[in-house]
Amino acid sequence: MKRVFSGVQPTGQIHLGNYITMKNFVKQQEDKDCIYCVVNMHSITLPQDPVILRDRTVELAALYLAIGIDPKKVTLFVQSQVSAHAELAWILNCFSYMGELNRMTQFKDKSAGKDVVTTGLFTYPVLMAADILLYDTHYVPVGNDQKQHLELARDIAIRFNNKFGETFVVPEPMIAKVEDGARIMAFDDPNQKMSKSNPNEFSKITLLDTPSKVKKSIMRATTDSDMTIKYDLINKPGVSNLLTIYSQFSGMRISEIESKYENEGYGSLKKDLVEIVNQELSKIQTEYNRILESGEVLDVLKAGRERAHELSTVVLDRVKNKIGFLTF
Ligand code: TRP
Repeated sequence: MKRVFSGVQPTGQIHLGNYITMKNFVKQQEDKDCIYCVVNMHSITLPQDPVILRDRTVELAALYLAIGIDPKKVTLFVQSQVSAHAELAWILNCFSYMGELNRMTQFKDKSAGKDVVTTGLFTYPVLMAADILLYDTHYVPVGNDQKQHLELARDIAIRFNNKFGETFVVPEPMIAKVEDGARIMAFDDPNQKMSKSNPNEFSKITLLDTPSKVKKSIMRATTDSDMTIKYDLINKPGVSNLLTIYSQFSGMRISEIESKYENEGYGSLKKDLVEIVNQELSKIQTEYNRILESGEVLDVLKAGRERAHELSTVVLDRVKNKIGFLTF
């Protein structure tokens, strides 16, 4: 069975864009060996409140389960609980180059204008490479913004294999298409991606939002003055964004939705979308609360940690052997 690895940071709330990516994680569990990780070690590359970080870690794991990740099929665990991640990251740091890390656009963005920049932020992509390479991963479902990091992971794997012989599986990206919801845009500005860090609360919907917050965000969404409901990313980015979300939540094709609303205005499209989104969020929220209250999420994380530990030890020992570290 092919192996899939992906990680999500336990910072900020999960918005619709993240959710659509995570729904793809759910699909993969049917025919692949999926390993999903709450990457809290990546989160501390920027300052975090310890109490909030701990809560968010458990909440993110509960959300994974609430959206349909099946712990019988998937390994779900927290990165910091499997020490092989830190160990391999250190080793890979010694095979990564300052020059290539300096070219990472996410580092440039996140460090721009800061007085203090930690080395953790700089070597973040090396830790991500370690995450992926530790599990002999074949596929990594990532958004476009992580493509460069995945390229780096491939480069490091190939470099290491060339030097020491076949050690790592070289991973392939699995990048969703735009029509599949890979780019969910902000409601207040459809030329910008929906983002955790956007301060305008109505720019996004998060999975734990109330029905009235969902309604306000969608009803206020920026559209255009043309009034026809048509998917056109260049001229009608706002309407196209609503159609993409509608399609992802209803399972209908975009063309079907266009015909359904052929003689209707934006108001009725938006009103129906509010209904559809609220129905799904309400199901997720009920599940989420049940999972958190029952405490089952902690059992899932313990079992996940065990399996992740077993799998990663094999690869880490393989690496240690190659570079001349003792493994007894
Ligand atoms: N850097 C990724 C993000 O912010 C999260 C991440 C960490 C990740 N390790 C990973 C994603 C390994 C895929 C595979 O989105």
